[in-house]
Amino acid sequence: MKGVILAGGLGTRLYPLTHATNKHLLPVFDQPMIYYPIQTLVKAGIEDILIVVGGPHAGDFIRVLQNGKEFGIRHLEYAYQNSGDGGIADALKLAADFADDQPITVILGDNCTDADLSKEVKSFKDGAVIFLKDVEDPERFGIAELDPKDPEKVIGIEEKPKSPKSNKAVTGVYIYDSNVFSHIKKIKPSARGQLEITDVNNIYINEGKLRWAELAGFWSDAGTFDSLYRTNVFWARKLLGKKEKDLTTF
Ligand code: G1P
Repeated sequence: MKGVILAGGLGTRLYPLTHATNKHLLPVFDQPMIYYPIQTLVKAGIEDILIVVGGPHAGDFIRVLQNGKEFGIRHLEYAYQNSGDGGIADALKLAADFADDQPITVILGDNCTDADLSKEVKSFKDGAVIFLKDVEDPERFGIAELDPKDPEKVIGIEEKPKSPKSNKAVTGVYIYDSNVFSHIKKIKPSARGQLEITDVNNIYINEGKLRWAELAGFWSDAGTFDSLYRTNVFWARKLLGKKEKDLTTF
């Protein structure tokens, strides 16, 4: 299994912070944000990693991560996404040669979790696996609708729905077989001008090839000021040895 971290985009929702550097290098407690997805992949036994970077500060990644040996990465590659904010699926296209027909675990560079993905990574055979997490603000995410007769089955995903059919958010952690690249070729840009990973996942659903697992543990993307703050507080508490419930009494 190889790993892909998507760390492109312009981070416009975090201006003026992202005038200084790339979003994924901003601090989350005592580490740059991207350390967390790197550690998540390495903990799951993944040693070959591609990081897709982009935007005006892409060079900063090399200064911070160098060749990745410090993290236990055997082979670290970088790809540059030229198209600014073309979307997650657009960035993932750049991983086709790296994947070389092997399955890949994909994680968004702003998804900071303490979940252990090892079981799903090691048992993966084919199709796609998504990781769901209950959230209080489902309008902000891709939201999965489960089959009421068979809740193991996802029947559809809606990207940022106005009337969400559940509160099960599709986190930015995915496992794909090599068909993902031909599926990306089939999709068209959405209303926000992006190639949506949700459209790719819906193709897997229509083919009966998508499974879901619960993301057990803390999960937050850190792409807005609120979520960046929440993520900082969680990791500060965790690493300082405090209990999660203390989060409210920061
Ligand atoms: C993206 C995906 C969305 C997913 C979210 C998780 O949203 O499009 O389906 O729930 O990541 O972080 P974006 O960060 O592009 O708004």
